[in-house]
Amino acid sequence: MTSRPGDARTDLERKVTERHGEPDGLDGLHLVEVPLVPEIRLHLAEDAIVWWARMEAEAGHSLAAPYWASAWAGGQAVARYVLDNPETAAGCRVLDLASGSGLVAIAAALAGASAVTATDIDPYAVAAITLNAAANGVAVDASGRDVLDTDGDGADLVLAGDVFYDPAMADRMLPFLDRVVARGGRVLVGDPGRGTLPWGSLEVVASYPAPTEAAFADAELARTYVLRLSRS
Ligand SMILES: C[S@@+](CC[C@H](N)C(=O)[O-])C[C@H]1O[C@@H](n2cnc3c(N)ncnc32)[C@H](O)[C@@H]1O
Repeated sequence: MTSRPGDARTDLERKVTERHGEPDGLDGLHLVEVPLVPEIRLHLAEDAIVWWARMEAEAGHSLAAPYWASAWAGGQAVARYVLDNPETAAGCRVLDLASGSGLVAIAAALAGASAVTATDIDPYAVAAITLNAAANGVAVDASGRDVLDTDGDGADLVLAGDVFYDPAMADRMLPFLDRVVARGGRVLVGDPGRGTLPWGSLEVVASYPAPTEAAFADAELARTYVLRLSRS
C-alpha cells in the first residue's frame, strides 16, 4: 500500500472488489445508503478507526486518517440541501472542497451541475471519490490539488462539507471562501456547529437532525447546518 494517487486507486478498488460475497466485517468497506441522503450510496467503513488500523497494518507505516471512509454530518447536510434545492447547483460549475468520500460532489452532479470538481489532499479520498461517483452513475473530476491559496478556479458554486474540523484548516478556509465570494462565486458550508466554525461570517439557510452514525468524534452533535457566507 502506498499514498501515490494511482496506487491508492488500485488499492482501494482491490479492497472493494475482494470483499464482494464475504460476510460484513468491522474492518471492511461497504456500499451503503447515506443516512440523510439515501439517494446516494457510498463505500464507507463500518468503523473508520478499525478500518484505519487495517490500512496502516497493511501499509506498514502510518497513514492519514481515512476521513473519506465516513459521510460527515456537514457534508450530509449540504448534499441533502442541494438535492432538495437543485436550482442551487443546476447548470453551475461546482467545486466540492475537501470532498472526502465525494458525497457532496455526487449530490451536485445529481442536481444537474454542468461540471463538478472534487478536491481532497488525501490520495485515498481522490480514489474514493472516483469509485463512489461511478457507483452512483455520475461524472466527477477528482483532484488531489490543494486549491486553498486560489480563489476557487472559476467555480460558480463552492460547496464545503465539514471543512472547519481542524483549527489549522479553519485558519486557511475563511480567507479562501472570502476570495471566492469577492470574485462573485457562491459558497455553501455544511457543519454540525463545531467550535472552530466562524458563526459571525455565516448565515444558516437550513438545518437537519444530525445523523446518528458518527464520523470520528461527532456523536454528541444534535443538528447539522447548511450555511452561506454572509457576503454571498
Ligand atoms: C472532515 S472531512 C469532510 C469530508 C466531506 N466533505 C464530508 O463532509 O463528508 C475533511 C476532508 O478535508 C480534507 N482536506 C484537508 N485539508 C485539505 C485541503 N487543504 N484541501 C482539500 N482537502 C483537504 C481531508 O483529507 C478530509 O478528507
